[in-house]
Amino acid sequence: MALAASGVRRSELGEALRACRGAFIGVGVMSCIINLLYLTGSIFMLEVYDRVLPSRSVPTLIGLIILAGGLYIGQGVLDLLRGRILGRIGTALDEALNARVFETIVRLPLMAGGRNEGVQPLRDLDNVRAFLAGQGPSAFFDLPWLPLYLIICFAFHVLIGVTALAGAIILVALTVITERLSRQPAREAMGLAARRNDLAAASRRNAEVLVAMGMAGRLMQRWSVANEKYLAGNQRASDVTGGLGAVSKVLRMMLQSAVLGVGAYLVIHQEATAGIIIAGSILSARALAPVDLAIAHWRSFVAARQSWERLNRLLEQMPAKPPPTLLQPPTSRLAVEGVSIAPPGDQRVIVQDVSFALSAGNGLGVIGPSGSGKSCLVRALVGVWLPARGKVRLDGAALDQWSSDELGRHIGYLPQDVELFAGTVAQNISRFDPEAKAEKVLAAAREAGVHDMIIKMREGYNTQVGEHGAALSAGQAQRVALARALYGDPFLVVLDEPNSNLDTEGDEALTRAIRAARERRAIVVVVAHRPIGIEAVDQILVLRDGRAHAFGPKETVLAQVLQPRVASPAPIKIVSDAGAAKS
Ligand SMILES: Nc1ncnc2c1ncn2[C@@H]1O[C@H](COP(=O)(O)OP(=O)(O)OP(=O)(O)O)[C@@H](O)[C@H]1O
Ligand SMILES: [Mg+2]
Repeated sequence: MALAASGVRRSELGEALRACRGAFIGVGVMSCIINLLYLTGSIFMLEVYDRVLPSRSVPTLIGLIILAGGLYIGQGVLDLLRGRILGRIGTALDEALNARVFETIVRLPLMAGGRNEGVQPLRDLDNVRAFLAGQGPSAFFDLPWLPLYLIICFAFHVLIGVTALAGAIILVALTVITERLSRQPAREAMGLAARRNDLAAASRRNAEVLVAMGMAGRLMQRWSVANEKYLAGNQRASDVTGGLGAVSKVLRMMLQSAVLGVGAYLVIHQEATAGIIIAGSILSARALAPVDLAIAHWRSFVAARQSWERLNRLLEQMPAKPPPTLLQPPTSRLAVEGVSIAPPGDQRVIVQDVSFALSAGNGLGVIGPSGSGKSCLVRALVGVWLPARGKVRLDGAALDQWSSDELGRHIGYLPQDVELFAGTVAQNISRFDPEAKAEKVLAAAREAGVHDMIIKMREGYNTQVGEHGAALSAGQAQRVALARALYGDPFLVVLDEPNSNLDTEGDEALTRAIRAARERRAIVVVVAHRPIGIEAVDQILVLRDGRAHAFGPKETVLAQVLQPRVASPAPIKIVSDAGAAKS
């Protein structure tokens, strides 16, 4: 198949298509029969002109009409079936790959070197599927039959054959030119479309800022510029294929008349019959119809091929993980060993060589100025960013040995920018677990101290939080997100500034929640700016400029750090075995 040939060998996409091999063979066989049936029209003409008319036999004519009618119907049915099978192949491909593509969309932005392409990969998969389901592939299956028609033209008469061949060469040349000329504009149009859509999405996300500060007009201008560029790019791509498509159509008509003309010349010189003229003319037009169709669908073909290549690159970049080895749920230790962290796709190392260890029941407060790398560090702790160097281990197993789903069950994470997902409060707390038990949701809400707040909402646990959780206040969202982090009693609870939007009641609930989690032998890591956030922890890590400035029992470290700066500019090094210093 044309698409598969252009793909990278042994790719995941290729494999998925290969799984449809049976269907493709079926389509090939059908195309064979269909193309033989395409001869019906020509042969009918030939018979009518050369047999029926001279013999003036009505029964022969009726017989021919019935036969031709039956063959036409057969051709139509097969054509329909072929289109349907191709459509099903597209659907099967989509079904085989959409989960993988979705996974790459989610994970790629978190991987080193991963470019963020937004949801483009999903559009790419759509492109490939839409192309397979369209008219294009049928044309490609018909193209190999072109020589058959030409041979028959030659059998009618050499001159008719030569005329048809000349036409075919010109049209094929036109196809090649279309390919050359349309590749670049199609790629540009695609890129411009993506940029335009990103801008629109970003504006929608930040609507409040845009309106409040009167930026909507300016953003609209930027959007208009992007849109104009997109329209122009799109126009260029359409112009190329559209123009060449028109030329090919006219050429095909000219060819039909040319064959007719040549035939007439032959009849005059008594080298051919009238039937041959008509049949030859129909046949040559038929022979070149797939070329016409191929040129008409060249744009979607190019788009699908580019999508195909992009998807291949993407899936290669993020190979499917082998099923991870089975690990025991962690119960005793979190070890951070010489971890350095660089944001994905960035060379800058933000966090340098941080090491510490915590045991079950420990609570660690991470403090340090803005931009010191606290959030980067906790992202590595929960496994969303892979450390550039070093390892984070839970009970000795490095985080990358766990599958994300498995690991997620043992981790509770409250990010600094809380985002809830559209759904009910209960769904958000239960992390959209379809089999969530009400008791577990209630337990998490109680532990987070939000139960009372939730039941005061209009529909209690069934309150819809709206898109991005917009229907809740920032403080409410943060507290619901705390319950989400505590859902299922995870072993490692990581809270990144969990009290940035909280009132006194929320602060107290947070402190209680941290205590409760430690009492059930979990490890809690809290990033905090305000002292209240670290009330319930027993260990402190001070980060400065991405380095561990101090680590140790809370009282000791705080006493050192809060001391008025005396002569010593050298960083304080307090390293203790946290496990021994359990509260
Ligand atoms: N996704 C990212 N891509 C590139 N750089 C990043 C990214 N996230 C953070 N940084 C950089 O890492 C540095 C530390 O950021 P981080 O968010 O860890 O600080 P922080 O200590 O959490 O600060 P704050 O107290 O304000 O939350 C910043 O200088 C920031 O520019
Ligand atoms: Mg932060």
